Amino acid sequence: MQTGITLNGFLTSKTNIELSKVIISLAEGCKQIARLVSNAGLSGVTGTTGTTNVQGETVQKLDDLSNKILMDYLRASETCAGYLSEENEDIVTLNQSGKYTIAVDPLDGSSNIDVAAPIGTIFCINERLSSAGNVTDADFLQQGTAAKAAGYFVYGSSTILVMSTGNGVFGFTLNTDNYEFYLSHSDVTTPASGKIYSINQGNAAKFDDKVAAFLNYCTTVDKETSRPYSLRYIGSMVGDLHRNLLKGGIFIYPANKGETKGKLRLLYECIPMAFVIENAGGTATNGKQRILELQPVELHERTAIFIGSANMVAKAQEFLNN
Ligand code: AHG
Ligand code: MN
Ligand code: MN
Repeated sequence: MQTGITLNGFLTSKTNIELSKVIISLAEGCKQIARLVSNAGLSGVTGTTGTTNVQGETVQKLDDLSNKILMDYLRASETCAGYLSEENEDIVTLNQSGKYTIAVDPLDGSSNIDVAAPIGTIFCINERLSSAGNVTDADFLQQGTAAKAAGYFVYGSSTILVMSTGNGVFGFTLNTDNYEFYLSHSDVTTPASGKIYSINQGNAAKFDDKVAAFLNYCTTVDKETSRPYSLRYIGSMVGDLHRNLLKGGIFIYPANKGETKGKLRLLYECIPMAFVIENAGGTATNGKQRILELQPVELHERTAIFIGSANMVAKAQEFLNN
């Protein structure tokens, strides 16, 4: 749907100037990333850098480039005080007098880069707690309920920004003729129930019995509740959750047997995605607590996550409570 409403125009009516500047700078950076992603096979940016990041994971060339691009653009915003990234061990001060901080996964699902499958950028913007000067860890270690804006860019067959400032969820599609984002998805709500479950089922041997019991429920035949559900899993949280947001479904990345933490990172993967899904009418939990109410204690901490359509997450919770 071509509404003619640009991202800039939309933000002017929805947010304050300082927050708008952060989001606009981020969107400009993500336009660059979208170009790089589209041309990846031609411009020599596929493959790895040969290094590992703070999480011990292989860094793809595009992970590294995207991180640098976002830092540069967000520095230029003048209102973004600090930057936390999956690709940086430490937080970075960008503007000492800025009011906001941002936590990002510069490129999510990066194992999909070389095969032209959907990938994304995830972000969460908070108001800093410190008054000025260098940002502190505490500025970033805030509960998701305090977020001022959060969302993701999906680089798929279209590039789409999906975000919320706490009052509804809106999608903006990148027009590749003039490279502007236009409002294309107004007031997105996610279906209360769906027919899709998304999990890396290859890890089944590591799942605890309660998760396994819920997966057994998903695959059991029952006409009335449209089961068995369909398994859909790209291996890119952004791609998987974007589909489930629009179609209805549940996305799960559980903790392995005997562990309490999953793989996905709280501050720049789970909180922003939970913020979007909740604002669209869905829910997100780690199995015990609402994701948005978890108190982060470490910059790169991980959590288990069950996120998506409210009725499906509630059903999963029943199995987890047993
Ligand atoms: P990243 O590329 O930022 O490290 O994130 C990958 C994440 C997430 O996007 C995806 O849902 C998950 O890892 C897939 O993990 P598995 O390969 O273990 O299923
Ligand atoms: Mn990721
Ligand atoms: Mn990443």
